[in-house]
Amino acid sequence: AGTPPQTTLLLGQTLSFEANPFDEPLETAVRHETSGAVLIRGGVIAAVGSADTLRPLHPTARVIDYGKGLIMAGFVDAHVHYPQTAIIASWGKRLIDWLNSYTFPEEMRFASKTYASEIANRYLDLTTAHGTTTVASYCTIHPVSVDAFFEAAQARGQRVVAGKTCMDRNAPDGLQDTAQTAYDQSKQLLSNWHGVDRLDYAITPRFSPTSTPEQLEAVGALWREHPDCLMQTHLSEQTDEIDWVLGLFPDARDYLDTYEKFGLLGARGLYGHAIHLTDREKARLAEYGAGIVHCPTSNTFIGSGLFDLGGLMAQGQRVGLATDTGGGSSFSMLRTMAAAYEIGQLRHNPLHAAQLLWLATQGSARALRLDDRIGNLRGGMEADLVVLDLASTDAIAQRSAQAKDIWESIFPTIMMGDDRAIRAVWINGKAA
Ligand code: GUN
Ligand code: ZN
Repeated sequence: AGTPPQTTLLLGQTLSFEANPFDEPLETAVRHETSGAVLIRGGVIAAVGSADTLRPLHPTARVIDYGKGLIMAGFVDAHVHYPQTAIIASWGKRLIDWLNSYTFPEEMRFASKTYASEIANRYLDLTTAHGTTTVASYCTIHPVSVDAFFEAAQARGQRVVAGKTCMDRNAPDGLQDTAQTAYDQSKQLLSNWHGVDRLDYAITPRFSPTSTPEQLEAVGALWREHPDCLMQTHLSEQTDEIDWVLGLFPDARDYLDTYEKFGLLGARGLYGHAIHLTDREKARLAEYGAGIVHCPTSNTFIGSGLFDLGGLMAQGQRVGLATDTGGGSSFSMLRTMAAAYEIGQLRHNPLHAAQLLWLATQGSARALRLDDRIGNLRGGMEADLVVLDLASTDAIAQRSAQAKDIWESIFPTIMMGDDRAIRAVWINGKAA
C-alpha cells in the first residue's frame, strides 16, 4: 500500500457560510466556531468542525494551532490587471487619461516575456501576502503575458483565471491586435491553458471602445465555440466612457448592448464596474445570471461613481468583489471590503462584516462560477485558506479587545487591517 496523503489539522476560530447573508439572517447564514478545526488532506478540505470533535478522530494528523486566529476561505479577487502592478497609485487622472498616460505605456512592456514573468511573480507574491488565493486577471495583448501569468500561478498550485486582453482600436501602435489575431491567439492560448491544473482561460475583450465590431464579433464566435470559458470585460465605469461607447456604436441601445449584439452576454460573462446601469441593462444581466464585479477602491480612486450594491443584490444579481489593481489603489481584499463598506455608507446601505466577507469569498467565487470548488470553508472544497490575526496592530487590538461578539472582533480588521493581519495562507493544501 502507498503512503496516504498527509493530513493536517488546523486549529483556531473558523468561519463558514451556510447561506448568503444578503438573503438569510446571520444565525443561519454563518457558522462560527471559537474553538474550531479544519482538516486538510492533499489539496482538499476534508472536514470542518469543532476541535473537540475533529482532534480525537484524527490522532495522527499534524496539528497547527493558530490560537485565536480566524481561519476562513482565502480571498477571491474577481477583477484585476496583473500588468498594472508597477503603476498602482498613479496620480491625478480619470479613466481615459489614466489609461493613456499610465496604463498603456506600462502594458507595452509586456512584449517581453522576462518582464511579464517578473511582474506576474511579484503580483502573486504581493496578493498572497494579502490573503488572496484566487484572482481573475487581464493580461496584455501579448500572448507571452498570458503564458507568464499562468506559468507563475501553476508553479504555486494556484487557481487563477486569466486571458489575453484584446484591443484593435483606440490604443497606441504596438498595443493593438486585429479581429483575426485576437481570435487566433486567444484560441491558441485557450487550448494550451484552459483546464490545465487549476488554470482557467477567460476570453478578454478589454472594453467596447478598444474593440471594433469585427473584433467583438470574432471573440463572440470564439466564446460560442468554447462556452465553458469565462468572458471578462468592463461595463459602464464612467459617464464619459458611456458617451464615447454610444458614439462608437450608434445602433446600440446601451453599453451592455455593444456586448449583447455580438454574443458577449452570458452566464459565464464577468462585467467589471457596472456603476451607471440602465434598467434594461440590469434586467438583462439578471436574466442571464451574469457576473457583476464591484471594484470599490478603483471607483473612488479613478473617480468613477458609487456602485449600487444594495439595489443589485436586492435584484438577485450575481455580484463579486475585486481590487481592480492597478486602477484600484490596493492589492488587499481587506482594504477593498473597507472601501465597499464606505461606498455603502454613502448610499445609506451599511454592509455587515459577514456580507463583506461573503462578497470577498463566496460572492466572487459565484461570479467566477467556481463556488463549487473555492470560496468557502467546507468539506470537499479546495484547501485555499487565509488565517487572520484579529489583533495585528495596536490600533486594531485595542478596539477588538472591546468586542462583544465575533463581528465586532472582525470588523476593525476589515476596516484597518493590511498584510500584517494575514497570519497564514494555504494554497492547494500547502502553507504558502
Ligand atoms: N476600462 C478599460 N480598461 C480598463 C482598465 O485597465 N482599468 C479600469 N479601471 N478600467 C478600464
Ligand atoms: Zn479593470
